Amino acid sequence: MERRTGIIAALDTTNALNIAREIREYVDAFKVNYPLVLSEGISVVKELSSYGPVIADFKIADVPHISAMIAEIAFENGAKAVITHGFTGSDSVKAVLDVASRYNGEVYVVTELSSAGGQEFMTGVAERIVEMARNLGCHGLIAPATRPERIRKLRELAGNMQILSPGVGAQGGKAAEAIRAGADFVIVGRSIYEGNAVENARLLAEQLKEVI
Ligand code: C5P
Repeated sequence: MERRTGIIAALDTTNALNIAREIREYVDAFKVNYPLVLSEGISVVKELSSYGPVIADFKIADVPHISAMIAEIAFENGAKAVITHGFTGSDSVKAVLDVASRYNGEVYVVTELSSAGGQEFMTGVAERIVEMARNLGCHGLIAPATRPERIRKLRELAGNMQILSPGVGAQGGKAAEAIRAGADFVIVGRSIYEGNAVENARLLAEQLKEVI
């Protein structure tokens, strides 16, 4: 993913298209998740793509042929990247990568969720997931801004993979701290789209200029 501001807007809101149009100059990409796609339909990926690259955060976690089908639907509708889980094992992640390569698309692998529950099971296997993602040639990782010490640790193992870091603002994480710990991008949802999205995005971009 090409970095200019270091911000990826998580558009978990039905007003996604308007917000994307208004904030596009302050962000590098848009992330869509199930709430938006299940309510608006998959066509929203293509519509959003006219404002910037779209990352389909479907947290793919199935047997390989189903994981491949999900990735195919995301890419054929214009997604630039997909997010997949890594705990499924290398066969599923590889199936997603194979689809991505046909579209010149990117694959980002979840290491551990940014919420507290992410520590219950995922922290224990995150290092192994990073190693697998790196060996398979994935483009990047999702690592928690709520735990910068974990970003730092996973960064050491990540090689050339990019780190996208959610959990900024509403979940308590700090954007600049996540970048300083080794994240390449922060993923920000409610702290942008709740309230004045343009002003929120502009202020965050301003703040990140110093660390990017
Ligand atoms: O509103 P907020 O900034 O908390 O939204 C965070 C977004 O990032 C949501 O779309 C959520 O699904 C996603 N995400 C996350 N933690 C992860 C992976 C994805 O919060 N580890």
